[in-house]
Amino acid sequence: MGINKEISKETARSRFRIAVVGTGGRAGSFLKYFSRNQDEGEIVGLCDKIPEKARLWAKLYKIQPKIFDDTEEMLSKSRPDALIVCTPDFAHVEPSVTGLNANIHVLCEKLMATTLEDCSKIIVAAEKSSAIFYLGFNLRHNPTYNTVHQLVSSSQLGSISTIEANEYYYEGKTYFQRWNRLREFGGGLWVTKACHDFDILNWLAGCSAQNIYATAGLSHYRPKANAARRCRDCSLKFDCPDFDDISYTANNELEETRKLIRLAEEKKGGEPSDLCLYSSNKDTIDNGIAVINYKNGIRATYTLNVIAARTTRQLRIVGSEGMLEADLEKATIECTERHTRRKINYDLKEMSKGGHGGADDRMIKDFLKACHTGEKPKSSWNEGRLAVQVSLAARKSSDTGEVIHLDAPT
Ligand SMILES: NC(=O)c1ccc[n+]([C@@H]2O[C@H](COP(=O)([O-])OP(=O)(O)OC[C@H]3O[C@@H](n4cnc5c(N)ncnc54)[C@H](O)[C@@H]3O)[C@@H](O)[C@H]2O)c1
Repeated sequence: MGINKEISKETARSRFRIAVVGTGGRAGSFLKYFSRNQDEGEIVGLCDKIPEKARLWAKLYKIQPKIFDDTEEMLSKSRPDALIVCTPDFAHVEPSVTGLNANIHVLCEKLMATTLEDCSKIIVAAEKSSAIFYLGFNLRHNPTYNTVHQLVSSSQLGSISTIEANEYYYEGKTYFQRWNRLREFGGGLWVTKACHDFDILNWLAGCSAQNIYATAGLSHYRPKANAARRCRDCSLKFDCPDFDDISYTANNELEETRKLIRLAEEKKGGEPSDLCLYSSNKDTIDNGIAVINYKNGIRATYTLNVIAARTTRQLRIVGSEGMLEADLEKATIECTERHTRRKINYDLKEMSKGGHGGADDRMIKDFLKACHTGEKPKSSWNEGRLAVQVSLAARKSSDTGEVIHLDAPT
C-alpha cells in the first residue's frame, strides 16, 4: 500500500511551498536543507505550541515564514503544498490528518503514531486524500542500509535464514530527560527508538512478522542517591559523567539557537532542560533484546542498548550463499561468499556525509520527488503501521513475558 497518486499541475510547481509543525530539534534538519536548497522549496509557515522556537530557527536561517501556534490556521493562511510534521510522536496524528484532509502532501516524522488507533486515523485520511503521505523512515535512505537492502533483494546472499540487528547509542541520554522518557508521549524506547530498526528488519525480511518475544529493562538510568531534579542544583555534578551544563557558552550561531530552543520550554513553564537522567520520572527502558519470527521463515534478533560506549548500528545477515556484516557508523559492508570464502567489501564513507549518514537529505529529496511525480513513497502508511505494530508487540512482550502473535497481512 502507499499507492501512487495523481498529482495536479497546481501542486506540482517546481518551487514548493513548505510548512513545518513542531519546530524543536528535529525540525532543524529540514530547515537547514531548505535554507541550502532554496530552489527546491520555500519555508512559508512554521508552527509550534511555543512559537518562540520557530522564531529562533527563522532568525538563524534568515527566512521570513509566517509563524503560528495552530496547524489549521497555518495551513489556511500560509497555503503550503507540503507539511512536515515534527511534533513529538503522540502528536503526529492531528497535524497529519489536518494536512491530508486539505490535500496537502505530508511528510510525517517517524514514528507514524504511538497507537494503532492513531495509525488508522492517518490511514483513513491518507487513503481519501489526493496528496502524498510520506513516512519519514530516514534510515532507509542511509547508503549503508540502502546497499544492504539491494544486496539482500538481489538474492546475492541466497535465501536468508537469520538477521541480527544491533543498535548501540551513546547519545541515548535524551531518552531519559525529555518527553520521550514517557510512554504517554513517545511510547517508550521499544516504540520511539526501535521503530526505526523494526522498519529496517521488516524491509529486509520483505515480509510481515508472525510473532515476537522481547525482554527489556532499565538497568542504568535508575534513581541515584542524592541526585537533584536539575543538574544545575546537583551536588554530584562535578563527578557525574552525565552532568548537563545548560549555562555553556555556545561556539557558533547554530549551537546558540539550539540552546535557546531548549531553554524556551522551561521559560514557558515547562520542564527544566537539564532534568536529571537518573531521578527523572520515567516508564521507559535502557536496554532490551527482541526475537522476531517472520512469516517467510526468516528469524531476526534485535538488541537495543543506549548505555553503550559508542554509537552505531550493526547488521549480520546469513544467507545460503553468503554472509553480510555491516556497520552503520563505519559505513562499511563486508560480504563473505559461503563456499569460496571470497570477501567483497563496500566502503560507503564518502557517500555517508550529513545527518544520519546522509540519509536525511536523501529522504527529503525522495519526498519532493514523490510530491512532484505522485510515485509511491519509499515508506508510507503501510510500512509506518507495520513498524508501530511490531514496536507495540515488543513492548507488550517485555511487559508480560509472553510471545506476542501479530496478525498483519503478508
Ligand atoms: N528520524 C529521525 O532520525 C529522528 C530524529 C529525532 C527525532 N525524530 C522525531 O521527530 C519528532 C520531533 O522530535 P524532536 O526531537 O524534534 O522533539 P522536540 O521536543 O525537540 O520538538 C518537538 C516540538 O514540537 C512542539 N510541539 C509539541 N506539541 C505540539 C503541538 N501539538 N503543536 C505544535 N507544536 C507542538 C514542541 O514545542 C517542540 O518544539 C519526533 O516524532 C521524533 O521521534 C526523528
